[in-house]
Amino acid sequence: MSEAVAETVAARFSELYGAEPHGVWAAPGRVNLIGEHTDYNDGFVMPFALPHTAVAAVSRREDGVLRLHSADVRDGVSELRLDDLTPESDKNWTAYPAGAVWALREAGHAVTGADIHLASTVPSGAGLSSSAALEVVVALALNDLFSLGLRGWQLARLCQRAENVYVGAPVGIMDQTASACCEAGHALFLDTRDLSQKQIPFDLAAEGMRLLVVDTQVKHSHSEGEYGKRRAGCEKGAALLGVNALRDIAYDDLDAALARLGDDEEVRRLVRHVVTEDERVERVVSLLESGDDTRAIGPILVEGHTSLRDDFRISCPELDLVVDTALASGALGARMTGGGFGGSAIVLAEETDVDAITKAVTEAFAAAGFTTPRVFEAVPSAGARRVR
Ligand code: GLA
Repeated sequence: MSEAVAETVAARFSELYGAEPHGVWAAPGRVNLIGEHTDYNDGFVMPFALPHTAVAAVSRREDGVLRLHSADVRDGVSELRLDDLTPESDKNWTAYPAGAVWALREAGHAVTGADIHLASTVPSGAGLSSSAALEVVVALALNDLFSLGLRGWQLARLCQRAENVYVGAPVGIMDQTASACCEAGHALFLDTRDLSQKQIPFDLAAEGMRLLVVDTQVKHSHSEGEYGKRRAGCEKGAALLGVNALRDIAYDDLDAALARLGDDEEVRRLVRHVVTEDERVERVVSLLESGDDTRAIGPILVEGHTSLRDDFRISCPELDLVVDTALASGALGARMTGGGFGGSAIVLAEETDVDAITKAVTEAFAAAGFTTPRVFEAVPSAGARRVR
């Protein structure tokens, strides 16, 4: 994100609210390299931050008023009273920033009001965490302006609570932690049980490779019901197996666990995905840490896709077409990323194959009668920070 963007957002704030903002902050969207639907099972994930960010110009207020404006929607300024913020009362974009304010106050932090202008370059509905970016940028700005002293992981927890309780979406902790804690040039190996983190150097360009994001343009906003069903199925599996979370089933004990689940085919599939996916994350981490050729992670990404498609059943024809076409055109690996039912896929490719793969995927979409996908390169970028 450039200084010019921060200037533009600050200038628009001044127009709207009649004074310079006290500061400008940015928080990124993310892609997840591996570890899907493991975060609400206390498992492992490995996202990295995108260069696309939500940017917020913010000033503090002392009078219990919250004013919100976004460059990305047509609405004017929304004015809310902090004391009136009520979970699940708001079905608009304002629920994300207001939810972050609500969560901070509900946790006992003395936030007395704010004027906020937001502008985001994170594609929305593309499975790239545009909502987490909005929550985290607001939480970070208020953390600074009200000197709350919260660390990145603590802001992430509060933003997850905002989304779970205030917005009403039963998501895990991955997206908010990625936005708050990622570092440029690294993927974040996160244990979602205790939020312990390890920054893993991830520089594909140095090895002649690229990671592409293919946004299928299939919006996943109707997926909340299916997401919740998968989550409930995983919790049922953990309860049947007598563990706190599916994380507690060791990979080596998977067959025994599946046998104990008897003929509950649906729960067996969900359990198999989660337990094998945790093992895939660990394999990717040890490969990246070994210093061996990073190309070796390609087949693990494909295994992950197969598991999400066949066991977890959250892919869709567009995502499968990206993966199949990319692999047939020489990609080293590919898989859907994020919550599923649309959104984006990632493709690991030799730099020299990027153009051919992009062309093949675009043509395959046209031939299938699908909306033209949006393809861009994802470079591991900085997490949330103050920019002005
Ligand atoms: C969404 C949720 C995350 C995570 C992913 C799937 O992005 O917000 O918490 O569960 O889906 O891995």
